[in-house]
Amino acid sequence: MKEQDFVFKPQKVVTGSSSWESPSNIALIKYWGKYGVQLPKNPSISFTLSQCKSITKINFRPKDESENHNFSFLFNGKIKNSFHPKIYQFFDRVQNYIPAIKKHYFEIESHNTFPHSSGIASSASAMASLALCFMEIEKQINPKISKKYFLKKASFLARLGSGSASRSIEGPIVCWGESKNYKDSSLLYGIPLKNLAPVFNTYHDSILIIDQKEKKVSSSKGHLLMSSNPFSKSRFIQANENVNKLKNILIEGDLENFVKIIELEALSLHAMMMTSSPSYILMHPNTLFVINEVHRFRNETSIPICFTLDAGANVHLLYPKKYFDKIQILIKEKLLKFCDSKRFINDHVGFGSKKAAV
Ligand code: DP6
Repeated sequence: MKEQDFVFKPQKVVTGSSSWESPSNIALIKYWGKYGVQLPKNPSISFTLSQCKSITKINFRPKDESENHNFSFLFNGKIKNSFHPKIYQFFDRVQNYIPAIKKHYFEIESHNTFPHSSGIASSASAMASLALCFMEIEKQINPKISKKYFLKKASFLARLGSGSASRSIEGPIVCWGESKNYKDSSLLYGIPLKNLAPVFNTYHDSILIIDQKEKKVSSSKGHLLMSSNPFSKSRFIQANENVNKLKNILIEGDLENFVKIIELEALSLHAMMMTSSPSYILMHPNTLFVINEVHRFRNETSIPICFTLDAGANVHLLYPKKYFDKIQILIKEKLLKFCDSKRFINDHVGFGSKKAAV
């Protein structure tokens, strides 16, 4: 579908409420570098999670001409002004595709199931759930829209709030960005992948909280640094190649090569940050201790566990469900000592966002 296909012109005003919950996602092939309005420099692929999620509720009504603002926002029941610039920008962008939004006033309430101070990015789940709530307005004005279009446009809108949010609408594995090898893939929205080996429906992600503090560098800044990174061209080629290689690995359940690509992607992402100007070292010494332990454990046991990282120090341990008990022992005996306040979160792949009770 093209960008113009997502413009919904009718400007009817409606009253109502809607609520959606959206999971976070963890990238297997990393999105790092963007252009235009939230378009990725390379395709990315992620596991949709299920326990780490945002739940957002909106009440909407016709906006009074005398009202200066068009929304109020509560996060965990409290006013959170620091989120306003991102929400304003999101409204601005979304209004180009659902102009009726301009004529409404919104009360928005959002909360996460994971603690704010866990170093886990919440923009993907938050923006995905808000995008789905907006789609409910379009649906109220035009009840005939198909479920397929509803989800596709929700991913399109979510992308306008945060690129990775486009991958939090569906599951269990989503590709966002254009790749010749992935039919129907698009720069504009994420698509759930088909024909996956069953093992990938069982994947667990144990998130080791190495550092609870907020990220040193925001993703938006990090993406921008890629435009002057001397290795960026090679990185985008590498990401495309890894996306291509991953296709058969996901179909065949080739865990040996899965592990190789996933860890290479995590380290390449960090290599990009280390070689940007200014440069950032986002790993913590404990990140490296954990990585060493994971390698040692994999060599000794042949259990196909691997790690991935986002733009921070936390380590995501990815492994099939059947090894859950063994990995819990590994975490408790060898890895917990490297975690901030001994914290970790067990999550697993899921099937995407769900409508919540209003
Ligand atoms: C390292 O989606 O947070 O997690 O589009 O600027 O909101 P914006 O960036 P964001 O970037 C995510 C970066 C990443 C890798 C990934 O999720 O693919």
